[in-house]
Amino acid sequence: MSAPAPPLAAIPPDIRSLADYERRAAAHMPAESWTYLQEGSGDGLTLAANRAAFDRIGLLPRILSDLRGGTTQTTLLGARHAAPLLLAPVAYQRIAHPDGELATIRAASALETGMVVSTLASVTLEEIAAARAAAARELGAPAAPLWFQLYLQESRDASLALVRRAEAAGYQAIMLTVDAAIKRASFTLPAGVDAANLRGLPRPAQTAQPLGRILFGTALADAAPRWDDLAWLRRETKLPILLKGVMAPDDARIAREQGADGLVVSNHGGRVLDGMPSALDLLPAVRAAVGDALPLLIDGSVRRGADIAKALALGADAVMIGRPQIHALAVAGMAGVAHALLMLRSELEHAMAQLGCPTVTALTPDRLRLP
Ligand SMILES: Cc1cc2nc3c(=O)[nH]c(=O)nc-3n(C[C@H](O)[C@H](O)[C@H](O)COP(=O)(O)O)c2cc1C
Repeated sequence: MSAPAPPLAAIPPDIRSLADYERRAAAHMPAESWTYLQEGSGDGLTLAANRAAFDRIGLLPRILSDLRGGTTQTTLLGARHAAPLLLAPVAYQRIAHPDGELATIRAASALETGMVVSTLASVTLEEIAAARAAAARELGAPAAPLWFQLYLQESRDASLALVRRAEAAGYQAIMLTVDAAIKRASFTLPAGVDAANLRGLPRPAQTAQPLGRILFGTALADAAPRWDDLAWLRRETKLPILLKGVMAPDDARIAREQGADGLVVSNHGGRVLDGMPSALDLLPAVRAAVGDALPLLIDGSVRRGADIAKALALGADAVMIGRPQIHALAVAGMAGVAHALLMLRSELEHAMAQLGCPTVTALTPDRLRLP
């Protein structure tokens, strides 16, 4: 097998969409890492459903609208975002590029885009926060929003240590991922890449369970997070908490009652329970369940600015992208991720302008043609 190609020093002119990065990225990553990045669980039904949900929806422009003062800006949890778009937490970014998460945060800073740093980041959360501060200084711009994604550890002390580190480093929100406690074991990390934030913490008895082995009764199943863990976290931190991986409208209602400050409607990019519908299909019911005030994000196969417009029209406040940031990172490092974010933002502006929506709040269900 040939070695992966090094990242490109310049962005090739034929890259005009996120799909173009995806097509090129395989050549820049070891084969096993590429499979890990791209895979869905089971038969890939949910992975396919994620994309199909966006493609099924049509857009219905209103003509002759006043676009003066138009902007993609939005406010989430009191902070300004240049667009309703964030970088989803994606583990081990150094599998795609030697700079890993440091390149990603520099790109996010340049594009004033929020980044959600994974518990399983391959660079420490403090180094990422420092790179963000340095980028803001260089750019003379406000620092980009920075959130920490938490996977609960086997002990609450270990979880709390991570939260305290995130607070101390200036992270502005905790995104608690609740849909991936039970994972299949599959991937061996390449040499030199590790979960940098978990160094020194007790290693869990088990982090994943190969299919074909009994699960119930194991330490992994017994340690799966429960609702009282959310209540505990709520008591322990003043940071806003977003729950990631909420799909059932009834769970969304309970999460709001238990003090969640926001939700991410997500099936983890089709990587956990195969057979789940797309987040987009569930979004209107989740919005109806929680009311207008609670911030709702969605992710899963967002690949075009028009996808962002569709998600917002169906009730989302913002979307996140997962795999595309890694495709761009593998192809062209920081510049690639910045370019990918810029393309998405530009596509969103074009979609909004052509729909006759000068602001994100103008994106309403009447701009859609639903199947
Ligand atoms: C390689 C990979 C690693 C991921 N790691 C995490 C993680 O550490 N924490 C988390 O909450 N979600 C993780 N996710 C899920 C993403 O945050 C996001 O929900 C998903 O990728 C969105 O779908 P998309 O890739 O189609 O955009 C990961 C996804 C991928 C593809």
